[in-house]
Amino acid sequence: SKMASRMTFVAAIAVTLMLISSAPAQCTAEEFLWGTATSAYQIEGAWDVDGKGMSIWDEFVRRNGTTIKDNSTADIACRSYEKYKEDVQLLKQLGVNSYRFSISWPRVLPNGTLAGGINEKGIQYYVNLVDELLANGIQPLATLYHWDLPLTLQNEFQGWESEQIIPHFVDYAKLMFERLGDKVKWWLTFNEPWVFTVLGYGLGAHAPGTKDLVNTVYIVSHNLLRAHAKAYRLYEKDFKPRQQGKVGITLNGAYVLPKNTSSELDKKAAQRSMEFSFSWYSDPVYFGDYPEEMKTRIGNKSAAAGLPKSRLPEFTAEEKAELKGSSDFFGLNYYTSSLAEHKILSNDGGYYDDQDIVSTMDPSWPGSGSPWLKVTPFGIREGIKWLSARYDNPPLVVTENGVSDNDGTTSDQHRIDFYREYIGNVTQAKNEFKCNVVGYFAWSLMDNFEWAEGYTEYFGIVAVDFNDPERPRTLKDSAKWYRDFIAAEMTTQ
Ligand code: NOJ
Repeated sequence: SKMASRMTFVAAIAVTLMLISSAPAQCTAEEFLWGTATSAYQIEGAWDVDGKGMSIWDEFVRRNGTTIKDNSTADIACRSYEKYKEDVQLLKQLGVNSYRFSISWPRVLPNGTLAGGINEKGIQYYVNLVDELLANGIQPLATLYHWDLPLTLQNEFQGWESEQIIPHFVDYAKLMFERLGDKVKWWLTFNEPWVFTVLGYGLGAHAPGTKDLVNTVYIVSHNLLRAHAKAYRLYEKDFKPRQQGKVGITLNGAYVLPKNTSSELDKKAAQRSMEFSFSWYSDPVYFGDYPEEMKTRIGNKSAAAGLPKSRLPEFTAEEKAELKGSSDFFGLNYYTSSLAEHKILSNDGGYYDDQDIVSTMDPSWPGSGSPWLKVTPFGIREGIKWLSARYDNPPLVVTENGVSDNDGTTSDQHRIDFYREYIGNVTQAKNEFKCNVVGYFAWSLMDNFEWAEGYTEYFGIVAVDFNDPERPRTLKDSAKWYRDFIAAEMTTQ
């Protein structure tokens, strides 16, 4: 009988193993996310429909030809507010298992605040979109803030310049967790804080068009980080136990190489450059505080300028504790590499001078439809390795990667080459260097409003005819390539 029970035991193990190995890949929780990405302002249109309030972008594009290259707006954009079912069918055709979109804060809270009233029609749009995605077997990944701040909050207290915004962001996040959290399991608080801080509040090239690289950029970043931590902790405490989702933040940056590879100073400058972009946000999120390099340099420059204290704000002990570990996965938007050269700069120029770096591009790197984007596929691998090493191999989702051209052609072989190379390098980071990459999203599902560049740079794998009021969509060659590529990946997974 001892023998018999041992045999039963062995048989039970064998059956268990058979069950595990025969479980279809798409049913495991560990399924790699293959998706495409968009954002609300860039695709939805319907800027004043069904009770939506104005965002800072609705105002910014109306500054009489001074802000957007082709003087366009996203009032209509891709009409995705009306055509979301068609969009989901596109996703279905592509065979993706996930879709990253963003929620327009002023569509759901027209005045930006709960006290100003909830726009139920706005919420319904996102409920419908999410239901449609789930009905088609597509995981939603929602970004709470992709730059379209309610205009009221900018007008009232300069938006992210004031800490008054923090409780309003948390109210908004809570409302979304309440209304969508049973269905949305992947959340991002912010998209590319570096971009809306430096371009929006530093250089004035994006909404709200504020130009202060000296103090404002550091204050804006400080406030959004505090808001991120609060939203993360709220989810962790009140929603995660029941909803079992994940909350992260999406950061952008270049993998930076030394301009002169034999210069120790340039090598340090390259590291420093990444600390002033990625780590400005990810060090607080993973470690609870800004990088030493930023604290020291900004402190020194502030002192040299005769200021009583550093222009870089400090977190309280409580804020540090709240920030530390406030991310369930690293959201990475990756496009390009750059070069750094060490050079001592002045004390008064703020963010760029604070780094003592001159940033350039290698002239041998192939270009794209965007001056800042050079085709440097090795950079995504090295960038992922750098981040994985610094933050102890967190789960990492490439929440955006893609390339532009200026004509939106459907014969986009260059985009196929780009994706093949970049995805190849992501795969290498994952398989060869054991980085914990858990998802990849192509930017973008379709051509859309490229911020200050308007409709002059196209990132879509699906073309949109902006001359046709109906905004018909057509799969580009790259969309067909991506479809076939991920189909093959999913079957071998
Ligand atoms: C970053 C942003 O998140 C997205 O909105 C933008 O269109 C793409 N990268 C391309 O520039």
